[in-house]
Amino acid sequence: MRRKLAAGNWKMHGLATDLAEAETLARAHPAPTVDVLICPPATLLCRMVAALARKPIAVGAQDCHTAEKGAHTGDISAPMIADTGASAVILGHSERRADHAESSAQVAAKTIAAHAVGLTAIVCLGETEAQRDAGQTLAVVSEQLRLSLPEGANAENTVVAYEPVWAIGTGRTPTLDQIAEVHDHLRALLPDPNIRLLYGGSVKPANAAEIFAISNVDGALVGGASLKADDFGAIVAALEAAEGTGGAATP
Ligand code: 13P
Repeated sequence: MRRKLAAGNWKMHGLATDLAEAETLARAHPAPTVDVLICPPATLLCRMVAALARKPIAVGAQDCHTAEKGAHTGDISAPMIADTGASAVILGHSERRADHAESSAQVAAKTIAAHAVGLTAIVCLGETEAQRDAGQTLAVVSEQLRLSLPEGANAENTVVAYEPVWAIGTGRTPTLDQIAEVHDHLRALLPDPNIRLLYGGSVKPANAAEIFAISNVDGALVGGASLKADDFGAIVAALEAAEGTGGAATP
């Protein structure tokens, strides 16, 4: 059975004062029955790790370089992330694919770098609105998955997040059937059937339960709604409830 995962991607949000949100979340959920992860900006990694020490909430980064070290001003490497005490890293987010022209081949190289130091890689993929309108969704995500996951990706070291680009930060979500279609399709293509598949894109407390009831959805990668303890806590609770029913956990 795949353990469910609620992952928060803070993106370029968060100052030291915002650590209190993570502390509030930890107090409200002292013993979650699902995995919970917060990925703050790199500037907060060390302090987030300290704030959540001995709490059952893991910390992750949002990107890493392919190299261990070198002349790459402004980048951070996977060993540096592991050195903070973080245990995961988001890779290939559509904002990085768009803003930094990251290719799936680069995402695979970053994933290898993350695996080499024991970080869980959360590999993101998803179609644009134009690609969906053109009927290319399944072809696009299949190709992204094939090129972004390196040899050796398995359920222990890799999570895949399906995030339709047009659903990110827009308040629009695919229909439940559309999410199910893509997740069923991706599940069949995974090199390890137990790799967890997250949905991401405008997940909120109000729609979390219905999304988590979809089989083959093992949790969520949450942007805006992960910034506030109340909202993210409600999403964690919805995932715990879905796990409790067992319905969505059937491989
Ligand atoms: P929103 O939840 O803000 O739509 O962002 C989703 C996302 O991109 C998470 O990585």
